[in-house]
Amino acid sequence: MQYSEKVMDHFMNPRNVGEIEDASGVGTVGNAKCGDIMKVYLKIEDNVVKDAKFKTFGCGAAVATSSMATELIIGKTIEEALKITNKSVMEALDGLPPVKVHCSCLAEEALQSALWDYAQKNNLTIEGLEPPKDSDHHHHIPNEE
Ligand code: FES
Repeated sequence: MQYSEKVMDHFMNPRNVGEIEDASGVGTVGNAKCGDIMKVYLKIEDNVVKDAKFKTFGCGAAVATSSMATELIIGKTIEEALKITNKSVMEALDGLPPVKVHCSCLAEEALQSALWDYAQKNNLTIEGLEPPKDSDHHHHIPNEE
């Protein structure tokens, strides 16, 4: 399996590891199939993501994608943050091997679920923001049956 230099870098030196104590939103997602878990903390002020941290118990690609996902979301408005997809994360990492694509989906779901938590806590309706999917769904995992 071939990983890009960026994936290796973010795996070996993950950015934004940890937690935010007074986080505005926290999202925890897991993939039932591989058992990997990601937790993302967001600090949001004036509609802007000021800080993001994560804890990931999972494979190398899960660590690298959550690291990159937090890097991408810091400094973004909520509206911009909602547009971060697993594809944006993969592109920023110069790609992932096909069997590792689901790890980037987990990163996208973790961001969305932290944003959802923020919206719930503040009684906000944010256009385009959907409730987190139940993480038992396997439709993000291609070719692993
Ligand atoms: Fe499941 Fe990477 S193997 S998140």
